[in-house]
Amino acid sequence: MSRKQIDRSLCAVVLAAGLGKRMNSIRPKVLHEVLGRPMLLYCLDAVKTLKPEKLIVVVGFGEREVKKSINDKSVIFVTQEKPLGTGNALAVAGNALRRFKQGTIIVLNGDAPLITGRTLKNFLGKHRIEKNALSLLSFVDEKAAGYGRILRDDKGQVVSIVEDKEAAGSQKTIDELNGGVYAMEPKVLDYLDMLEANNSSGEYYLTDIVGIIHRKGLQIGAYRCDPDELRGVNTREELSKVAEVLNKRIVSEWMRKGVTFLDPGRSIVHHKVSIGKDSIIYPDVYLEGNTSIGEGSIVYPGVRIVDTVIGRGVIIKDNTLIEESTVGDGSTVGPFAHLRPHSNIGKNVKVGNFVEIKKSTIGNGSKTSHLSYIGDAILGKNINIGAGTITCNYDGLKKHLTMIEDDVFVGSDSQLVAPVKIGRGAYVAAGSTITKDVPRGALAIGRAKQENIKGWALKKKLKVKSLKVKRNEKK
Ligand code: UD1
Ligand code: CA
Repeated sequence: MSRKQIDRSLCAVVLAAGLGKRMNSIRPKVLHEVLGRPMLLYCLDAVKTLKPEKLIVVVGFGEREVKKSINDKSVIFVTQEKPLGTGNALAVAGNALRRFKQGTIIVLNGDAPLITGRTLKNFLGKHRIEKNALSLLSFVDEKAAGYGRILRDDKGQVVSIVEDKEAAGSQKTIDELNGGVYAMEPKVLDYLDMLEANNSSGEYYLTDIVGIIHRKGLQIGAYRCDPDELRGVNTREELSKVAEVLNKRIVSEWMRKGVTFLDPGRSIVHHKVSIGKDSIIYPDVYLEGNTSIGEGSIVYPGVRIVDTVIGRGVIIKDNTLIEESTVGDGSTVGPFAHLRPHSNIGKNVKVGNFVEIKKSTIGNGSKTSHLSYIGDAILGKNINIGAGTITCNYDGLKKHLTMIEDDVFVGSDSQLVAPVKIGRGAYVAAGSTITKDVPRGALAIGRAKQENIKGWALKKKLKVKSLKVKRNEKK
């Protein structure tokens, strides 16, 4: 980020120190993953689009892991020693904001990953134009539980927030809820001292600041926003809901860009994934991490692709797992194939049923169609690997390389004992165990010579018959 772009009139605070008791987990709540990524990172992504002068994250429970996951030198970490509530968390951050006297402080809960940068920008704009002392984002939901409720007076002015736990009587029917996103002028921090923990949780509720600010006669703004940007995560149920919303957002975006999803709710697409136009994604497909798929490819059901680059016009057939690999244009992989890390599959290659490939390169136009294991191998172009071929790459201590040059034909059920090299255009006879290099253009036969014993079967039959007769005579 260039220094020029930084918004010097903005600081951001993300609250991420809570225990997350309701998750019933040993992992800090904000690190629970949504589509393969800690939820806190989504929230930070949205905040970073505002380019604040300072980005403070309040950490506490699982502090070390949280810092490690964020792994960003531009973030300032502030430790809340005890989880005394959101009000206390902001007060702790306030110490790092002492010199920030003019401008706006934006505060977010780290357990609400759906907020977008665009919404935050609009929100900030309204806060500034309307010159509020404090603004917040609210949403309307009759069913959601656990959120603070927004209390307004007859004129519609926000007067306070009452937490769900503390709500009494008619307050329980209020359906305008607090999203946990606030913009405030620095002077609001001075009132944090006035918060009290005299509530059912014994915590300092940040939301009580709203009532305090109102009583001081300062202006408060509350802006309604799409519930699907403000949903927080307190429980596993809410975690799955948030993942569903995010996945739907991502899949819809790819559909707009020209990708067909046969059952959009049943395929999971991580946020860094990219998919080319006119590709077709069947149900129960998981596209994870840094995966990209070229135009016009088809991914059939039950496929998981992780951190992989797939070319154009590629077909990935049912129940295939591909990890940290590349697949070139026009190739077909599966069904039931496993490409383990560092498999580089060229163009127009066929990797068929029950084939496992590991740390290997397969050249353009080569085929390994059935039941093979190719590990630590470099294969050239237009090679045919027969059914059941195995590269014996491991001697119990070390892994060894198999090299197969262009235009080689390996007969079915062959074992290539590495290190070994098969020269260009050579043939390996079916059922061979190859332990020595094969010269270019040669035929290698590495199996016991077949012997045919004429009339053997008839002799055997007669022998069995006479044995049976003898046995009967004894009886
Ligand atoms: C909070 C709001 C509630 C709002 C909801 C929106 C308060 C008192 N209530 O409730 O009005 O509707 O968010 O999602 O603020 N945290 C700390 N230190 C603490 C406690 C919490 O850093 O001592 C962090 C948590 O890690 C979390 C965030 O603050 O990221 C919110 O805390 P949480 O306990 O989840 O608040 P809610 O009960 O959801
Ligand atoms: Ca929460």
